Amino acid sequence: LKEIRIGLLGCGVVGTGVIEVIEAKKEYIGQRLGVQFQIQRIAVRDVLRERHPIVDKQKLCLHWSDVCTAEDVDIVIEVIGGATVAKDAVLTALRHGKSVITANKELMARFGDEIRQTAAQHGAFVRHEASVLGGIPVLSTLETYFAMNQIRGLRGIFNGTSNFILTSMHQDGLSFEEALNHAQVLGYAEADPSMDVDGIDAWYKLQIILDSLAVPQAKRVGPSATGIRGISPLDVYQATQENAKVKHVVTAKWDAERDVVHCDVRPQRLDASDPLFHVDGVLNAICLEGDIVGDITLTGPGAGAYPTASAVLEDLVKVVQSQAARSR
Ligand code: HSE
Repeated sequence: LKEIRIGLLGCGVVGTGVIEVIEAKKEYIGQRLGVQFQIQRIAVRDVLRERHPIVDKQKLCLHWSDVCTAEDVDIVIEVIGGATVAKDAVLTALRHGKSVITANKELMARFGDEIRQTAAQHGAFVRHEASVLGGIPVLSTLETYFAMNQIRGLRGIFNGTSNFILTSMHQDGLSFEEALNHAQVLGYAEADPSMDVDGIDAWYKLQIILDSLAVPQAKRVGPSATGIRGISPLDVYQATQENAKVKHVVTAKWDAERDVVHCDVRPQRLDASDPLFHVDGVLNAICLEGDIVGDITLTGPGAGAYPTASAVLEDLVKVVQSQAARSR
């Protein structure tokens, strides 16, 4: 088996999940691809911290540059998050010709163009399925199935924390603050929950999805995101009285004539006939409208260690296949 040496940036819940799935799928990967993934180096902030037994402490190092510039690393996986250290690290890895898989939505939403250009200049691949909607294969779907279908519109629930909060307000009669507190205790919310509840996280994910479309980019217009802080128990009660639910909905609609895409991220009242009505808890969903196929809805886990690790592993396999196809 050909050995492919992986450098991991970050080893929190997702990073550990990545190591676990690579280990669990070792034999299958060997049979399917004829390769063996070897976790070669892991950059972390604290080498002394207690970690899952699957993490080989011998592989830990403190500096991302020891991963991104290392001769013995072939592919880098970035799961640090944020757009400071992660940006420097990803760009450095690409400049060293290493393909990168990242789960980082802020990085890809803000610096996606620069990252894609750097990858292209250095003959490296960059994939980031895990940066949007966790385990839902939305970027792969757009890349493969929407090669011929032109997209006319999309709608979705892109933030699991907001969806969990609204679901708790509906099902358990909680106030916004109580439901946010519950989401934080369960570890769903981001470190700074305003990213989730003010709609920024969902807005970033929408921008990444729009960036990923193969068609020339239409101008994006629309108000900035509105979150769910303003939703009161009364709003929820009134929606329930009409057999509706309050959901935090992302919308993008193409106006082909004016070459404009209208973007909107805000709470909306949905009735039971809407496919997003039934998407509760931390689930995410996206409805894609193609000009040939019509409407397709993908629903699934938008966050969590294994769904995110699943997207990372699928990307890893695609990078290996792309590299093999190029060298044929
Ligand atoms: N905080 C995000 C969410 C995690 O709640 O959806 C995944 O991006």
